[in-house]
Amino acid sequence: KTPVIIDCDPGIDDVMMLLLALRHEKTEVKLITTSAGNQTQDKVMDNALRFVSYIGEEVEIARGSEKPFLRDLVIADHIHGESGIGGVELPEATLEESDRPAIEAMVSVLKEADEPVTIIATGPLTNVGALLLAHPEVKPKIKQISIMGGAARGGNVSPKAEFNIYVDPEAAEVVMQSGIPIVMSGLDVTHKAYLDQKDLDLLKATGNELSKTLYEMLQHYMDAQDSSPFLEPYHSEVLRLHDLCAVAYVIDPSLFEGQDCYVTVETAGYTTAGATVVDHLGTMNKSPNVHVLHDVERKRFVELFFSVL
Ligand code: BDR
Ligand code: CA
Repeated sequence: KTPVIIDCDPGIDDVMMLLLALRHEKTEVKLITTSAGNQTQDKVMDNALRFVSYIGEEVEIARGSEKPFLRDLVIADHIHGESGIGGVELPEATLEESDRPAIEAMVSVLKEADEPVTIIATGPLTNVGALLLAHPEVKPKIKQISIMGGAARGGNVSPKAEFNIYVDPEAAEVVMQSGIPIVMSGLDVTHKAYLDQKDLDLLKATGNELSKTLYEMLQHYMDAQDSSPFLEPYHSEVLRLHDLCAVAYVIDPSLFEGQDCYVTVETAGYTTAGATVVDHLGTMNKSPNVHVLHDVERKRFVELFFSVL
C-alpha cells in the first residue's frame, strides 16, 4: 500500500478522486486536508466531511487556508455549483472536522510515517506550498507530489491558465521549485481522461445508491464543461474527470505517458498569470523538475474508476 495525504477542494471531480483513493487497495489515505478553491473553505470542508461519511470511511479531515498566499480567492461555482458538489444534497456528516489545522496535521503524519508519503493535491496548492515553506524539514518524508493542475498548452480559466494554478500561482511556484519529485496531471492529459456516454449509461445501470448519487453529480458537471475546437474530443457527451488522474497515476503509473520537463509558474504576466510554462523542447536549458503527463489509456483508466463502485 502507498501511504498518501490528499489535499483537495471538493468539487465534483474531487469527490470521484476521493472515492478511488479511499476505496482502492493500493492507497492508504492517512489524512485529508481541504483547500479553498472550487468553493470557500467552509463549503469544501463540509463536502469532504459529508462525502467521506457517506461512503462509510473514516479518516482525519483537517482544515486548510481560507485564501491564497497573496490573492483574493476565486471560486468555480459556475462549474461545481453553489454547494460545490452540484445539485446533490448529501446527508449530514457523521465525521467531525479535525481539531488541528491542515499544516500541523500534515507535519505530524509525515514525521510519524515509517516510509516517505505521497501527497496528492487536486485543488489550489496553498496548503502544500505553505507546508513546504514552513516545514522544509519534512521534505525527505515526501516521496512525491502528484498534482492535478496546470497545462502545457491551453488553460481553462484564462487562455493560458488552468484553474488550480490560477487561483494560487505563488503557492504553485513554491511547490514546483521545491526539489521534491512532482508529477503533473495538467489539462493536456486530463482532457483525455473522460467518461463517454456509454460509461455514463453503465454507471447509471449499476443501480446502487452510490452510483446514482455520482451520476446525479456528474450530470450537473456535464452541462458546465469547457468546449472549443481546441479542446478534443469536441462533443458535449464526454465528462472529464481531471482530479482522478492524480490518484490513478499513484495507483498505476503504467496508465499514463509523460515527459520530464522544467516547469515554472507565471506569477507576473499581464494576461498569463497562473500559466504553467512547460519547457517541453528543453529550450530553457534547465534541469527538469516535473514529470508532465500528456497521455492516458482511457479505457483502462475508466475501468480502474469503475472497479471501486
Ligand atoms: C480543476 O479545477 C477544478 O474545478 C477541478 O476540481 C479540478 O481540480 C480542473 O481545472
Ligand atoms: Ca479539484
